[in-house]
Amino acid sequence: MTRQLFVTTALPYANAAFHIGHMMEYIQADIWVRYQRMQEENGQPRVVHFVGADDTHGTPIMIAAEKEGVTPQEFVAKIAAGRAQYLDGFHIAFDNWYSTDSPENVDLSQGIYRRLRDAGLIYTKTVDRFYDTAKGMFLADRNIKGECPVCHSKDQYGDNCEVCGAAYQPTELINPYSVFTGSTPILKPSEQYFFKLSDPRCFQFLKEWLNTPGRLQPEMVNKVSEWLGENGEKLADWDISRDAPYFGIPIPDAPGKFFYVWLDAPVGYLASLKNYFEKKGLDYDAFLNDPSTEQVHFIGKDIVSFHLLFWPAMLEFSGHPVIDKLKVNVHGHLTVNNEKMSKSRGTGISPLRYLELGMNPEWLRYYLAFKLNSKVEDLDFTGEDFVARVNSDLIGKYVNIASRCAGFIAKKFDGKLAPALSATAREWIARALNGEQGERQAAIAASYEAREFGRALREIMEVADVANRYVDENKPWLLAKDETKTAELHEVCTTALILFRQLTVMLSPVLPHVAARVREFLGDAAYSWEDTKGERVHAGMLGRTIGAYSHLMQRVDARMIDDLFDKPAQIAAAAAAPAPAAPSGDASDIEELAPEISIDDFTRIDLRVAKIVNCEHVEGSSKLLRLTLDAGEGRTRNVFSGIKSAYQPEQLIGKLTVMVANLAPRKMKFGVSEGMVLCASAKDEKTHPGLYLLEPVSGAQPGMRIR
Ligand code: MSP
Ligand code: ZN
Repeated sequence: MTRQLFVTTALPYANAAFHIGHMMEYIQADIWVRYQRMQEENGQPRVVHFVGADDTHGTPIMIAAEKEGVTPQEFVAKIAAGRAQYLDGFHIAFDNWYSTDSPENVDLSQGIYRRLRDAGLIYTKTVDRFYDTAKGMFLADRNIKGECPVCHSKDQYGDNCEVCGAAYQPTELINPYSVFTGSTPILKPSEQYFFKLSDPRCFQFLKEWLNTPGRLQPEMVNKVSEWLGENGEKLADWDISRDAPYFGIPIPDAPGKFFYVWLDAPVGYLASLKNYFEKKGLDYDAFLNDPSTEQVHFIGKDIVSFHLLFWPAMLEFSGHPVIDKLKVNVHGHLTVNNEKMSKSRGTGISPLRYLELGMNPEWLRYYLAFKLNSKVEDLDFTGEDFVARVNSDLIGKYVNIASRCAGFIAKKFDGKLAPALSATAREWIARALNGEQGERQAAIAASYEAREFGRALREIMEVADVANRYVDENKPWLLAKDETKTAELHEVCTTALILFRQLTVMLSPVLPHVAARVREFLGDAAYSWEDTKGERVHAGMLGRTIGAYSHLMQRVDARMIDDLFDKPAQIAAAAAAPAPAAPSGDASDIEELAPEISIDDFTRIDLRVAKIVNCEHVEGSSKLLRLTLDAGEGRTRNVFSGIKSAYQPEQLIGKLTVMVANLAPRKMKFGVSEGMVLCASAKDEKTHPGLYLLEPVSGAQPGMRIR
């Protein structure tokens, strides 16, 4: 039967930039999507729609916008505008990126809600909700923290526990407190709308749905079954309403009430697809009703309850056609150097910094793919491991084959591959590929399909090992020195390149950019998995004229890794520095405080995060460096700073700093300075020399205001 796919990743909250954990999810889904797109259905590439969107609603975003003095819509738009550089940077091939704050999502969410109401699964009840009297508003789940009622972990949010994954009501938290004021919230009555998950219909449906083979990973079936209880007794009704002020979608016929963000968030998957179909002129309803459609969600382990209890129940009881098409793939979390990522400790690795350091995105794609399997297991990014894996596999095994053979084809054979192969050469190919008919490629395909990417790559590297053994045994570099061995040289290089091409086809879901360059070099059209089968392994390669080979990938320089982790580097620097004077030191050592100012005095100074995009010496000046700063204004600024004694220009390039952005421009001997950067220094520079340029903790973006 033909398959057509609709694939999504979780919709990220639009309150922050992506961290490396997000990128892991996108890379996992993207590899799977690219593999699926290489499949053919009746001679055509399989139809795969891959969409994402920002998850825009909810209190955290509302609060963040309020802090910046902008509307939630403006806030979200700014975050959305920053997405492309991450997605393009790591070759993530979404067809559409949309928003839950969209007309499609309003329509679809309200429609689903009305049908749930008609099905008798919505009721209202006046309940006590937490209210922060100091702030004057009802507190959303994420504005309240406390002890998890299930596993007793401290400081868990009011909706679900990040440690044990349990979902609960904020009122169930032990010792709750408001994250705004730290005060203990009071309970205030409010009429709330509930989805009746405790209805026996829900239990019956969910039990059956969960246990349909092929839908979920076995460990997820077990986990969610536990949440259901023997007879559904553990299923609690779900409060789907929030009181104004709230950034969300209005509940129909309920003035002042909005959908809780998690009601409309998964509907955002459909909204993004609908928006995409409208743009493309495709038939959305026909696609969703087509029995050959599969809807596949990639999500992390922390949001399972929303996707495996509420979402399927919403779809089922609103009579939605996708319910029997739904599959959910849950992944574990990425840790960095075996530490959980957290905002307060820094996110370990910034994806943008990775790119800015000139690190190849396909290194990360390969490394993460190598570590991924189909289970809900955490995986770790470790520097040395990353360097070793990439250099040994991608450079030492894969690229090496082409770089050892391609040159001879160009130099000695006018770029033309041998017209035929001997039985021995064919045997080597069959040995590498484990058979004449693509047996091994089929096993690798099965691993990709099952999201066992590590297993697929290990098998692909076994093919590379055989190919390298072939080259080592036949030593083209020696054949090239012997006039009588020209035909042999031709065959050896041709055979090696045929295997190299097979490796490229099989690696192309992981290394799309390299694959595109190889296609150009070999003169191939788009790669299909059919190219790994039977005659298509050699077909067209024999006698073909190929293009010039240029080096496909550099080795990872281990020094790049030091720059990648801001945390350890900073800690190391601090450890290397002489011990600071004891804090009890003489108070006269520090500069006297300036006269008191009002907050208004302070706010007149506009301080911005700026990125040092360039830095150079100033000819004729012994004190100044010339900085080119990007403060997110769509132009750069030229700023002179007297920090030459403290920094080499190359130390500063790429770093973030703080700039006084509304200082009047000043004409100097060397040009106009359009701002000022800030440095710390001791009271007496003679006895305590040293200038320290300010640098925000990682995560800040150029243009952010300091307040
Ligand atoms: N907005 C919700 C999802 C709504 S889906 C209808 C959300 N957003 S999130 O930004 O917090 O997370 C987005 C995805 O990133 C989730 O699947 C989450 O599991 C994943 N990850 C967050 N941290 C991660 C790691 N450290 N490692 C891998 N994935 C991580 O939840
Ligand atoms: Zn818990």
